[in-house]
Amino acid sequence: MDFSGKSIVITGSGAGVGKRTALEMAARGGLLTISDIDLSKAEQVADEIRQGRGTAISLKADVREYTEVEEMINKASAEYGKVDILINNAGTGIPKPFVMTNPDEWNFDIGICLYGVMNGCRAVLPQMIERNSGKIINICSDAGRVGEANLSIYSAAKAGVVGFSKAIAKEVARNKVLVNCVCFSTVRTELFGAIFEANPELEKKMVKHYPMRRVAEMEEAANTIMMMASDYVTFITGQVLACNGGFSMMG
Ligand SMILES: NC(=O)c1ccc[n+]([C@@H]2O[C@H](COP(=O)([O-])OP(=O)(O)OC[C@H]3O[C@@H](n4cnc5c(N)ncnc54)[C@H](O)[C@@H]3O)[C@@H](O)[C@H]2O)c1
Repeated sequence: MDFSGKSIVITGSGAGVGKRTALEMAARGGLLTISDIDLSKAEQVADEIRQGRGTAISLKADVREYTEVEEMINKASAEYGKVDILINNAGTGIPKPFVMTNPDEWNFDIGICLYGVMNGCRAVLPQMIERNSGKIINICSDAGRVGEANLSIYSAAKAGVVGFSKAIAKEVARNKVLVNCVCFSTVRTELFGAIFEANPELEKKMVKHYPMRRVAEMEEAANTIMMMASDYVTFITGQVLACNGGFSMMG
């Protein structure tokens, strides 16, 4: 896959799947905007890319705040002339039984996972529509497709992203802008790697729910995102592609 000359913005790319995807896309010629709520993490990733002779800028954007997301898109466009690919990746959830949650916590999860995606799409779509070209990949979760106990609000937000993505995919299809979702169940990110290292029994228990008897590696998550963002995809829109080892199988 070749991303030479493509301007790519990835939210929450200071760590985890977003970071790994950014490194892989930069290695394939992409012009990266590394955006994260934690600027120091974004700067480290951008430095790593530049040290490998890739191209990257870093900036702080809290995806919950529309003005910050709009500024992120404006800065990326000023640097590279446009945004070809937006990957709405930032996302997290507070694990708790629903009856123990409160509306502030609901706002937190929905703010990042659903509003964050809406903010990114709202900020970038006008230029993509005008150019008749662009790709948006919204990162979802199997939690949003089959529900995950103790992650009810996160599940609701991620399910919301699927419906939202399909709706806007229909709106902008005539402008040749493709909007798709990529879904994960568990990916061995830095965070999950540390959790499993501290508690190997937990991983053994978890993988029993996976037909392939393992969780996803970050490279596999990044490859799936790149596939959907690549030039190979020209007639796929409004779809949800799951990289989950068969954890959930939906038509
Ligand atoms: N890792 C998994 O097992 C898994 C499973 C299913 C879905 N996902 C989804 O994949 C995506 C990436 O997850 P991950 O595990 O790599 O995450 P991570 O926690 O490893 O990294 C997330 C990054 O997002 C940043 N971030 C947090 N809040 C932010 C905000 N408000 N604005 C901007 N940036 C913010 C963090 O600073 C961090 O750098 C998320 O949407 C997540 O819901 C992950």
